[in-house]
Amino acid sequence: MEKISEGKTKEVFSLDNEHVLLRFKDSVTAGDGAKADIIDGKGILNAQTSALLFRLLERDGIETHYVGMKDERTMIVKRLAMIPVEVVLRNYATGSIVKRLPIKEGEAFNPPIVEFFLKDDARHDPLLNYHHMRHLKLMNEEEARLVEEVMVRVNQTLSKVISKMGLILYDFKLEFGRVNGRLVVGDEISLDSMRVRDPTGRILDKDLYRKGYPLDQVKASYVEFLDRLRSV
Ligand code: C5P
Repeated sequence: MEKISEGKTKEVFSLDNEHVLLRFKDSVTAGDGAKADIIDGKGILNAQTSALLFRLLERDGIETHYVGMKDERTMIVKRLAMIPVEVVLRNYATGSIVKRLPIKEGEAFNPPIVEFFLKDDARHDPLLNYHHMRHLKLMNEEEARLVEEVMVRVNQTLSKVISKMGLILYDFKLEFGRVNGRLVVGDEISLDSMRVRDPTGRILDKDLYRKGYPLDQVKASYVEFLDRLRSV
């Protein structure tokens, strides 16, 4: 099968004119690829977590690229023309925003804050506004507003299920692509791309890896999250 592309954590293979296969690798990276390791079985955990969350979004009427699973770590997805932008929604302040702006760790955002970043490791994913995105031909203002609306709807679905699990969704990142003139949620939704904490502040997501916790502890947390997600 023809490999179309390979990123830090996933490989993309051609399936047919309308579909591609997304194979989740066992790699874990941070700092725009500066730090990298292998966690056996992580690809399966992230593929399964993403599949479950994509199905929840579809149930709530949000179009995603998800079609089904080929095997436990390989997703069948719609072939999208991906937009190289990472769209982040934040419910609570942590991560890059508390470094960039005079905002305190843990501050709540009501309403949530949506930010756009260029996917560009060499430039450390710079923040974009509507003007940058129009000039770089990434998306026009109308599309950006639509993407923001989808982010808010996705936040409702994700926050609800994560709260049923007894956990709190701090923030998440999505990527979008185009097919037949529509904007569709692509990529993945996993603990690599969202921040989840329990009410005591215990971290369950990739921040464990970013902060240097042992790999087996990172994996145990990904396993725990998927188990809790499956049982709500
Ligand atoms: O680092 P920052 O605070 O901007 O991250 C916001 C959210 O986006 C986090 O959930 C993080 O895991 C996710 N993210 C991502 N891929 C990146 C950067 C951030 O999934 N390259």
